[in-house]
Amino acid sequence: MSKSRRRSRVYKLGIRLAIYTSVISAVFSYLLTRFYFETLVDQSVTISISILIGVFLTTYLVSFALQFRRIQVLEQVSKNISKKRFEEIEDLRTLYDDELDYIIKHLIKSSRTVEREIQRLNRIENYRKEFIGDISHELKTPIFAIQGFIETLLNGALEDEEVNRSFLQKAMRNVNRLTYLTKDLMEISKLETGELKSEIENIYLHDIVHETAESLNYKAEKESIQLIIHPFDRNIQVRADKNQLKQVLINLIENGIKYNVQGGKVEILVERSEKQQGKLNLSISDTGMGIDEADLPRVTERFFRVDKSRSRERGGTGLGLAIVKHIIEAHGEQLKIKSEPNKGSVFSISLTRVNIPESQES
Ligand SMILES: Nc1ncnc2c1ncn2[C@@H]1O[C@H](COP(=O)(O)OP(=O)(O)O)[C@@H](O)[C@H]1O
Ligand SMILES: [Mg+2]
Repeated sequence: MSKSRRRSRVYKLGIRLAIYTSVISAVFSYLLTRFYFETLVDQSVTISISILIGVFLTTYLVSFALQFRRIQVLEQVSKNISKKRFEEIEDLRTLYDDELDYIIKHLIKSSRTVEREIQRLNRIENYRKEFIGDISHELKTPIFAIQGFIETLLNGALEDEEVNRSFLQKAMRNVNRLTYLTKDLMEISKLETGELKSEIENIYLHDIVHETAESLNYKAEKESIQLIIHPFDRNIQVRADKNQLKQVLINLIENGIKYNVQGGKVEILVERSEKQQGKLNLSISDTGMGIDEADLPRVTERFFRVDKSRSRERGGTGLGLAIVKHIIEAHGEQLKIKSEPNKGSVFSISLTRVNIPESQES
């Protein structure tokens, strides 16, 4: 909108206000001089016209002073909103504190809400695009593998008893991979968009650690790995979401088993934090292949794998540590990773202990 048009709107408003008030005052003064002030009857028209001019000018100037700057602000703010130039909207500082100020302040406040909402939706949209790109990439590998095995079977391998069994087993392994992948994808997308909330309660750590480790014993045995839980107080309670903490332990212990060496160890240790009062450190260490220092900061990114083929071969989705990180952060806790190639890794998480009497402390 041009400057002259914007200004003319203020003039129009001021002129209209001035005309109404001055005409009313003139008519009123005319009637007053005519009927009540006998001596002034002859001058009643002159008096009314002077009053009309006086009131017109005064009203116009007053309305100009009161409205002009603020209508400009109002116009500028709404223009910036429609052009999504939120950074140019400044807070209003005036002394009037009247309806016009209220409207302007309200508009500025609404613009901040709209700005935040647009930023939130943009973030979700970017996340969605990136996520869909990653997923389609990850789905391709098992789907192409299954397709290849089935095609080979249909092209004649079906008749060969030995080949067909092994091909079907390989196809099945890839179907399983797809199943893990969809489960992890559901989980991570809910965590990353904030849909999955942690239900924090007081839970007995001993039970959770033992239950989880027992459920993974068969995997450890299959790889001849020793799964060791160092003894700790049964009565320790922590503030956590039970299922999510279990998920964290499963993912970390499974990694300890998967990326280990034959005959290696996975150890779970719970101890009091030396640095933070009221906190515990739960660490899961292994004697496996370790992670290069350069790769350490990236292992919690979704779909990052140091060795893609090893991870795939072992049913990995590349989402385990990303899930762990999200859960730990949603709990307000920390995940620390130390690792040395060919020696092993230590993944430790902090946990908040429920206050218990000193006498029972371990
Ligand atoms: N305990 C570990 N020892 C060595 N490398 C590990 C360990 N845990 C995770 N990693 C590396 O980090 C990557 C990401 O781990 P994760 O997110 O659990 O995915 P996945 O296990 O499905 O590949 C793994 O592919 C592996 O390369
Ligand atoms: Mg994993």
